[in-house]
Amino acid sequence: MFSFRYLFILTFYYLVNNAISFRCDRRPYGSNTQASEPDGRFKLEVLGAENNAYIPEQLYVVQLRETDDESSFTSFMISAEGDVKQDPRNPRRMIPLYPGELRPQNSATAKFSDRCLYSVEHAMSSHKTSVEVYWQAPSSGNGCVTLRAMVAVNNEVWFEDGGPLTQKLCEDMRQPDDVAPQLNYKCGVCDEAKYELTFTGIWSRNTHPYLYPENDWVPKYSDLVGASHNADYILWMPGTLASDGFKDLAEHANSSSLEAEIREKIGDGVRTLIKGKGHGYRKMNIPTYSFFRADKENHLFSAAVAFHPSPDWFLGVTRFDLCSEDNTWLVERELNLYPWDAGTDSGISYESPNIQTFPQDAVARVEMSSYDRNSPFYEVDIKDMHPFGKFHIKLIRTYHRDCEEEEPTEEPPATEAPETSEESAEASEETNPEPAAPSRYQTQLDSAGDRR
Ligand SMILES: *[C@@H]1O[C@H](CO)[C@@H](O)[C@H](O)[C@H]1NC(C)=O
Repeated sequence: MFSFRYLFILTFYYLVNNAISFRCDRRPYGSNTQASEPDGRFKLEVLGAENNAYIPEQLYVVQLRETDDESSFTSFMISAEGDVKQDPRNPRRMIPLYPGELRPQNSATAKFSDRCLYSVEHAMSSHKTSVEVYWQAPSSGNGCVTLRAMVAVNNEVWFEDGGPLTQKLCEDMRQPDDVAPQLNYKCGVCDEAKYELTFTGIWSRNTHPYLYPENDWVPKYSDLVGASHNADYILWMPGTLASDGFKDLAEHANSSSLEAEIREKIGDGVRTLIKGKGHGYRKMNIPTYSFFRADKENHLFSAAVAFHPSPDWFLGVTRFDLCSEDNTWLVERELNLYPWDAGTDSGISYESPNIQTFPQDAVARVEMSSYDRNSPFYEVDIKDMHPFGKFHIKLIRTYHRDCEEEEPTEEPPATEAPETSEESAEASEETNPEPAAPSRYQTQLDSAGDRR
């Protein structure tokens, strides 16, 4: 669903490289006066942007309006200006960063400017007291963006920039919960750990009413699938292509080929396959439990749950580090989950027909604050949205291991045996369908099923 937009952005990058200087003549058409000193009669505001911070790729409404209940204006221009940074290949050259995209909200009131880059201007020079346009913030890493307005009362009296007509916003560095923290590449913990991972669904007609499927028996979650693994293994990751198995999970809520892909990597990047039962009608909010092991090498976990119906949307975390910076095992964490897009189906809403995305797009956040009314995320900010589910990760116990000790190469250490049976006993609904592989790694430690 992103390919068109990226093409668009790419085109802009080329434009930027050819038009290094941003400043352009913004005086009202036909005017031969200088701008007056801004007197506070008009104000530019990015609605919903708190603390002068923007969320990357979020769609914002930018409003230009009078502040005294009597002034009106005839023409305006709103422009976005990006930061500049030094060209790494030529330190004397500055490269402008992408300032996001300004676009008209309504073609009767605003249009793209022919004169200035990244600018919109009035469509008609009638008297108005306010106007709103869209600004889609740039992707992460583009620093700060300055939005500035020119506003004209008439051809003689006009204002430009200055305090009330300028707003500078910098990237909001706070991340949603399900974006994994920095990795601890040198995990120095010696003991092994046993964790419980619980998934609880939150998606419902009450929490997410807009476009929620009409029939209550239709919505369901796929099985919970994941792995504990080392730093090289990738189950899924924003910016990379989903595997075939992952695509099957995201599009069809079918986890079987993803499980096979994970199982193949056991002992080769993966420690434990995480597996929990998915719930549907009347059980949507019942937690699913699963257990897994982590160790010095395999101290990350990744997991995903698809929800149906949806184009290719799923919930999950990836490469979440359980080994804390002080080299102890994380004790407990709750993580709110928001939808991700697997990049394989271009549908816009839960019940859109299948539209294969070709070529396949990278995994990315589902487009939030969409300006398409057919999207469940129409003008919804991720910060105002209810999570669709949550993970609860909890350390159950640790197993003493000596750091110096040679890694055992054949049989699992005797101490692990009782754990295995304890875990099997915990399994209730789903019996372990996997033939035990003769490996020191347990192929499946989960005890999927309900515990009420
Ligand atoms: C899930 O996918 C596998 C193969 O990819 C297929 O054999 C199986 O029938 C599918 N399960 C369901 C419930 O559709």
